[in-house]
Amino acid sequence: MRLAPQPSAQSLRLIILLILVMGVAPSPALTVGCPARCVCDDQLVVQCAGQHLTAFPTDLPLATRQLIISNNRIVELPPLQLNYLSDLVYLDCSNNSLTEISMSTFGNLGKLAYLDLSFNTLTRIEDRTFGPLSSLVMLRMTDNPGLSDIHSDAFAKNSALQVLDVSRNNLSVLNISSLIALPTLRSVGLSGNSWSCDCDNEDLCLWVHIEGQTVCRGPPNLQGQRLGELGLQLRSQCHQGLGSWDYLFFLAIGFVIFAAGTVSAWAIGVVMVLYERYVKKKSEQMDPDDESLPNLSANNSPSIRPLPDSHGKILA
Ligand SMILES: *[C@@H]1O[C@H](CO)[C@@H](O)[C@H](O)[C@H]1NC(C)=O
Ligand SMILES: *[C@@H]1O[C@H](CO)[C@@H](O)[C@H](O)[C@H]1NC(C)=O
Ligand SMILES: *[C@@H]1O[C@H](CO)[C@@H](O)[C@H](O)[C@H]1NC(C)=O
Repeated sequence: MRLAPQPSAQSLRLIILLILVMGVAPSPALTVGCPARCVCDDQLVVQCAGQHLTAFPTDLPLATRQLIISNNRIVELPPLQLNYLSDLVYLDCSNNSLTEISMSTFGNLGKLAYLDLSFNTLTRIEDRTFGPLSSLVMLRMTDNPGLSDIHSDAFAKNSALQVLDVSRNNLSVLNISSLIALPTLRSVGLSGNSWSCDCDNEDLCLWVHIEGQTVCRGPPNLQGQRLGELGLQLRSQCHQGLGSWDYLFFLAIGFVIFAAGTVSAWAIGVVMVLYERYVKKKSEQMDPDDESLPNLSANNSPSIRPLPDSHGKILA
């Protein structure tokens, strides 16, 4: 009887302590509320569009599946807060003031299927920015007027990607080597960029052959022409004949072969002359022996001669 109140008092103190701790430092893992100026529903959709937000909303429900923060003036996507939302499937960040996206921004968003980064002020995309987004199906990244640099491997890991829209940016070149390797990609928006239709973009021009509507910004003589129509023209232009460096190369190769032939012929000549001299010297040294040879044979011949006779005798 005396012991009973003690544990309950202890657990009460523990609960009060917990509440205090939670109140002082709300852990993101325990928040269940809805961010200020946002609307949250029981479908795990958080809607914060057009609320004049200048920073990413805090206190987002951990289980959020759709987050819409479009039409604000958010300048940064904070990696730590974003990566708590590991169930996020849909993220609309369009029409904000995002200038860059760090490589860790999307590190934990393996379920994200839709991402919209259109109408921002992005300037470049690094190779690992979208790497963790293994479920990404649709990526919209249009209308970033200063976006001029997308790394050739930026989408290399997005093997679920079906739709990519990079229209109306400031792209002049795009290396498509990793894009064409994506197994399910079916649509790529490229129009409204300042494509340069030269040999750097030959692959791109050949690739959009079917699509058609995208035009060149340069060089001046090709301005306004459709990328798709220039693919084959560029291919023949860019691989046309041999350049002066090629001729120089072949000239150098020819000279090397000629020089090697001459040197080896000379070396063989020298070796043959030396050998001849050596043989001559050898035979001169052997000259005194030459005179004794007939004597020897003359001396030996009598002793050799009886052998066949004796042999013949034995046989007979
Ligand atoms: C972008 O958002 C602003 C409000 O912040 C709005 O007035 C404007 O129409 C939006 N632009 C686009 C292209 O949606
Ligand atoms: C677009 O890119 C070109 C270089 O390719 C650059 O000179 C120009 O300033 C860029 N435009 C914008 C709006 O950033
Ligand atoms: C395109 O990108 C691939 C992979 O990063 C690279 O190997 C290739 O050299 C690039 N091509 C051009 C023309 O830059």
